[in-house]
Amino acid sequence: ERNKRQLLLEINKTAANYFYYQLNGDQGQQAREYLENRRLSKETQIHFGLGYASKYSNDLYLYLKKKGYQDQILKETGLLTYDEKRGAHDKFWNRVMFPIMDVNNRVIGFGGRVMGDGMPKYLNSPETMLFDKSRNLYGLNYARTSRKPYMIICEGYMDVIAMHQAGFTNAVASLGTAFTAQHSVLLKRYTQEVRLAYDSDGAGQKAALRAIPILKSAGINVRVIHMDPYKDPDEFIKNLGTEAFQERIDAAESSFMFEISVLEKNYKQSDPEGRASFMKAMARRLLEFPQELERNIYIDAIAGRYGIASEELKRMVNSFGASMS
Ligand code: GTP
Ligand code: MN
Ligand code: MN
Ligand code: MN
Ligand code: MN
Repeated sequence: ERNKRQLLLEINKTAANYFYYQLNGDQGQQAREYLENRRLSKETQIHFGLGYASKYSNDLYLYLKKKGYQDQILKETGLLTYDEKRGAHDKFWNRVMFPIMDVNNRVIGFGGRVMGDGMPKYLNSPETMLFDKSRNLYGLNYARTSRKPYMIICEGYMDVIAMHQAGFTNAVASLGTAFTAQHSVLLKRYTQEVRLAYDSDGAGQKAALRAIPILKSAGINVRVIHMDPYKDPDEFIKNLGTEAFQERIDAAESSFMFEISVLEKNYKQSDPEGRASFMKAMARRLLEFPQELERNIYIDAIAGRYGIASEELKRMVNSFGASMS
């Protein structure tokens, strides 16, 4: 088993090198232009080992065969797919390639992006003996040595890379899969605090709401970064720059206030009844803080944000508390 792992790691590394050479060779022109258009410097591309899987769909397979690797082991790399007509052939072709590294800089899988609007936008390695999506975070191999007292979690490859390029080397991504308890345990080894930089769309907001309790259960403090009016960190930085992004990081709100702002959208604020229901919902949520001190801090914060008298909200919370006990 150990030998097999070693062999799989060796093949992945060979594949990553192959993709790298294809990106920088005759066939790589379009991919080089794609990455340039996405504002990734050559240095950044090298840092993340970016590559290109060529249009000729059996290039990698033939190359690895020529190197002496047998079909049996190649099958387990996740780099090939099979169909009746063609048998074994490359899974990735005509895509920009992102090697996925574990915390020890070993290549455990790949993501590949189409350069246009094709589907699927990203293709990822399947889970293999090396690659467990729920236990690995993209970028953690670099982020782990960052000196920042918090990590930034985002959605995608491009977000991690754009942030690292801009100097935010504490960014990691869970790569399309949901953030898991194993991810939070892994992160807890390196940090006590996370700032979420998920996409500003509905999906990103939902992902943030799900990640918050998982992180808190691991004892990690959570804050949420506002990305609007942009979709994700990559676009934010491209449009507003590094300093503006740092300001957003600094202004990240507590996970509680983020949850309240999501809750707010469920109620019609222009309607007195809607507003009253919203206040009750907030009061119920505030009761979940067992300590009065902490509860009062959030009561003041909410009162300030929504233009309610603190005392009023406090009375409401207390009356709920009394009726519940
Ligand atoms: P860009 O368009 O390149 O900026 O990508 P993005 O990261 O902004 O894409 P998006 O927000 O749509 O997705 C976030 C992450 O989810 C990606 O980085 C991928 O890891 C993953 N993902 C996106 N699309 C797909 C897909 O079609 N299939 C799979 N398996 N994963 C995807
Ligand atoms: Mn898993
Ligand atoms: Mn998204
Ligand atoms: Mn994006
Ligand atoms: Mn995105």
